[in-house]
Amino acid sequence: MNVAIFGLGYIGLPTAALVASSGTNVVGIDNNTNIINNISKGDIINFEANLKESVLKVLDNGNLKVTDQPTSAEIYVVTVPTPIDNKNCPDLSYVKEVTKTIAPMLIKGNMIILESTLPVGGTEKMIEWLLEERVDLNIPFNSSEHSIETDINIAYCPERVLPGNILKELINNDRIIGGLTEECSQKAYEFYKGFVNGDCLKTNIKTAELCKLVENSYRDVNIAFANELSLICEEENIDVWELIELANKHPRVEILKPGPGVGGHCIAIDPWFIVDNNQEISQIIKTARIVNDSIPASVIKKVQVEITKQKKPINKIVIATLGLTYKANVDDTRESPALEISKQIDNMDILKQLVVEPNIKELPKELNSTKTSISSLVAAINQSDILVLLVDHKEFYDIDRTKLSDKIIVDTKGILRN
Ligand SMILES: NC(=O)c1ccc[n+]([C@@H]2O[C@H](COP(=O)([O-])OP(=O)(O)OC[C@H]3O[C@@H](n4cnc5c(N)ncnc54)[C@H](O)[C@@H]3O)[C@@H](O)[C@H]2O)c1
Repeated sequence: MNVAIFGLGYIGLPTAALVASSGTNVVGIDNNTNIINNISKGDIINFEANLKESVLKVLDNGNLKVTDQPTSAEIYVVTVPTPIDNKNCPDLSYVKEVTKTIAPMLIKGNMIILESTLPVGGTEKMIEWLLEERVDLNIPFNSSEHSIETDINIAYCPERVLPGNILKELINNDRIIGGLTEECSQKAYEFYKGFVNGDCLKTNIKTAELCKLVENSYRDVNIAFANELSLICEEENIDVWELIELANKHPRVEILKPGPGVGGHCIAIDPWFIVDNNQEISQIIKTARIVNDSIPASVIKKVQVEITKQKKPINKIVIATLGLTYKANVDDTRESPALEISKQIDNMDILKQLVVEPNIKELPKELNSTKTSISSLVAAINQSDILVLLVDHKEFYDIDRTKLSDKIIVDTKGILRN
């Protein structure tokens, strides 16, 4: 069996390494030549636990090859990005492009597995694009006709891994398998059973599509509730952390923790896929997105209030910003509320911003200004007037509290309270 995996990013590269380590011949394809050159040199910048070792091993034994050129296979796995556009609508252009690339290589009996997160109806769209290229193929267009035969096996199998722990979760998480036909589901099931220990649960395409979106929307709604509580507590002058701790003593209450907003490539994006398809009826999901997207502005407001309380003029103030990534202990700044807040601090008329981000070596290009620089934790604490904690990285839990006595602290994660 030959497998071609299109898109070697956060999801595609670990998947390629894992499938190859189960003894399958895998070709990893990415149209970004830099990514291919780096992987070929063993320069794996994504720092998932054990990823580098796993990739090097399968490159070494020849089970994984990487290229920027389309390569034919029996099974095509698609792990390209599916972002939103500036109107919060799904942008499926990467899926379309990869579909057009795969189409001419397909022969009857091949399988396409879509792992990229899609809106409900996204897989059908992909089939539409496929059939535009290949009128000779018989692929049932409407996935509700679940038992019809197809020339190409198609399945939507969303990824639900936790960044930072991807390799482990790829093996151990349960998977949802939405096949175009029952045979498609069965073939995809057999593929995943080659390297997944979790249950592989078969369903139809639309249910699988919505299931992925619902999982992330569930998280988003619950985080929005906690974030809204933090806004209410701010108004009422109540300690939100104590409030949540007390409320969670109720046997049927489990409130999540607030933060600086919601980021990353999934929770901040996927709920919009539901809203886009269901404008009138997805009120809670939409409101949760709006609440979570509003939190960075409220953090900035707090920082501004603290600046006005300082005895120094604003142009002498130094702010230490702790954390830029979208969550703790990862190197990913995509959709990061911390990055957004840091950008806005950079726009203030302060003297300088010292950014402490243990998981990245260079500032993202969005922060390319003379005012903002990367700093060590010690230097940032020593030099700053105001400390803004945005991410609960493990390094920040150990901050020597005695060094903070003269600092103004805006702690969005509540870890410097004690
Ligand atoms: N990152 C996560 O934690 C996560 C979790 C679950 C699901 N997902 C979903 O998985 C998909 C991929 O996400 P990611 O985080 O791995 O994205 P990513 O941006 O890290 O990687 C995608 C890769 O695809 C490549 N690419 C784009 N177009 C291509 C093409 N036509 N041919 C070949 N390669 C191409 C890009 O160069 C990039 O390297 C998205 O739909 C995302 O929503 C991501």
